[in-house]
Amino acid sequence: PEEDGYALWLRYAPLEGQAKAALERFDPRLAPVSAISDPTILVAMQELDRGLSSLLERPLAAGGDANVTLDCTSDVTGPEGSYRITGAASGIAIMAADPRGCLYGSHALLRELSLGTAPGRISLDQAPAMPLRLLNHWDNPDGSVERGYAGRSIFDWWHMPGRSDPRMIDYARANASIGINGSVVNNVNASPLFLTPRYLPKLVALADAWRPYGIRLYISARFSAPRDIGGLGTADPLDPQVRAWWQAKADEIYAAIPDFGGFLVKANSEGQPGPQDYGRTHADGANMLAGAVGDRGTIIWRAFVYSAEDETDRAKQAYEEFVPLDGEFAPNVIVQVKNGAIDFQPREPFHPMFGAMPDTRLMLEVQLTKEYLGFASHLAFLAPMWEEVLDSDTGRGGNVAQVVAPAGMAGVANTGSDRNWTGSDFDQANWYAFGRLAWDPTLSSKTIAREWAAQTFSRDPAFLAASVPMMLDSREAVVDYMTPLGLAHLMGTGHHYGPAPWVCDLGRPDWNPCYYHRADKGGIGFDRTAGGSNALAQYAPDIAAQWSDPAAMNQDYLLWFHHVPWDFRTRSGRGLWEELVARYDRGVAKVDDMQTTWQSLSPYVDPQRFRAVSEMLAIQRQEAQWWRDASLAYWQHVNGLPLPAGAAPPA
Ligand code: GCU
Repeated sequence: PEEDGYALWLRYAPLEGQAKAALERFDPRLAPVSAISDPTILVAMQELDRGLSSLLERPLAAGGDANVTLDCTSDVTGPEGSYRITGAASGIAIMAADPRGCLYGSHALLRELSLGTAPGRISLDQAPAMPLRLLNHWDNPDGSVERGYAGRSIFDWWHMPGRSDPRMIDYARANASIGINGSVVNNVNASPLFLTPRYLPKLVALADAWRPYGIRLYISARFSAPRDIGGLGTADPLDPQVRAWWQAKADEIYAAIPDFGGFLVKANSEGQPGPQDYGRTHADGANMLAGAVGDRGTIIWRAFVYSAEDETDRAKQAYEEFVPLDGEFAPNVIVQVKNGAIDFQPREPFHPMFGAMPDTRLMLEVQLTKEYLGFASHLAFLAPMWEEVLDSDTGRGGNVAQVVAPAGMAGVANTGSDRNWTGSDFDQANWYAFGRLAWDPTLSSKTIAREWAAQTFSRDPAFLAASVPMMLDSREAVVDYMTPLGLAHLMGTGHHYGPAPWVCDLGRPDWNPCYYHRADKGGIGFDRTAGGSNALAQYAPDIAAQWSDPAAMNQDYLLWFHHVPWDFRTRSGRGLWEELVARYDRGVAKVDDMQTTWQSLSPYVDPQRFRAVSEMLAIQRQEAQWWRDASLAYWQHVNGLPLPAGAAPPA
């Protein structure tokens, strides 16, 4: 049958063969839901009923003793949401110390069964690695989505609270299934509308709808709200009237939403208001808000800041502004740091702030919506990129995953009003991967890709054997054809789609791609060593040492840290120019391979989704070549070199 992708990875496609026989033999039975009063346990039971009956293609047997049981007041230890599952031929027990653990355990059981595991073999003992696992929606009240490539916003502010959109429930189910426990519903470039009394009932409606699913609601707060909507002449965080305004605002919100998560704040960044407007620091601003919410919630303060005034190297600015404030933030403040120091590029080294603020809780921000990776048009599975960051050793007592464990992970959402939620079928995998990694950052990209592909498309081993490697390779393909060897930010200014390395005449230096690649007749790359901007010195000495020698280092970061001549001998033995061309070619060839692989998978995929993915891959193939040819033509214009022998000719 045709499928439109709406069901995401929660399709519970009917089992076949041995897996079906095993579940039939087990003959799952649930206790009647009539006796359940806890809303979270209720939705867990409903999901089990829905999933099990769909896997079996029949309603569950009624009556008799239940053999799939939930114990949500058990002695399972660990943070909220932890659970244990023991499966035996006689019964499957899901145990947790709180209802949320039962909900996550129910989803885990359905995931295992969906993957074809026999009921008696399921044994899991799980605890979330970090407390906050949040989506950040960059959605505006008018229904537009900043950097959204999947249609309009999923949030129908206009009709809320009167209309309860069933999509909000499916959204919550999807999030709960992967352990996401909070949602910031509006853009970080925040409209003050969300803090007005008119919007509060709308927020209440959403919070009420999501509460059973363990999703707490957060909003982005505009720092100048006391002026914008409060009638005050200032938003100075040390002004007593300003403090009183925020205190009253927080009290008003908490009276209506007792489990309100808190505020996310983008301040003094890209023109947004903030405490520096009044000569105060980020800590002054964050702590003032932290006082207003108190122990009821969290202030998540973003570290994505850069300004035209300090133009030595944009990559250095967040560290310079924030690291001196270490230890000054209130306990309920978290500083949210993007994975890299520039901005969600196809590849960046991990942000030097990780590990550099031992007395501040830091949260990792990644971007699900692929602003710089071909939007929804290009297939790029991002788990390998996030795994790369999470596994990066900071050289300061742990890797990034360990540094952020006391806080959490935020993912800039890729959802929209498109029927398939994310604009393309494979972008659903990035939503899935984000939740799974925030729950357990030690999961491999391969495990995640397998889980997702099996639940979303087909659990046939032949399908998985081809589609999983295709997914795992896909992000590297984008790096190769857009920004190989550590290049960054070569996309068209503003929209960030398509190549524009030649642009160099925009008002602010750091808006220009030429600022990032610094290519001239003599060479290419951004010198961030002591001889250049010295951004390298922001890393721990051991880490900086790994990247200080261009000839010895991991070449994936070469031009991020070094400006080298075109004939520089790379580790492959090829000269830089030859290596660059080879990587562009490799990227395009990988897309060819993806197309070939996908064509072979038609027997396993319904026609509608098969066609949609094929069409997107054809667009990607064309645009990969556009990237390569346009970039190479520009580099040749700069260096005057011919294409190396054997390089694929431009179209
Ligand atoms: C990027 C993006 C902006 C966004 C900003 C942010 O610069 O292009 O649209 O507002 O990141 O993260 O705040």
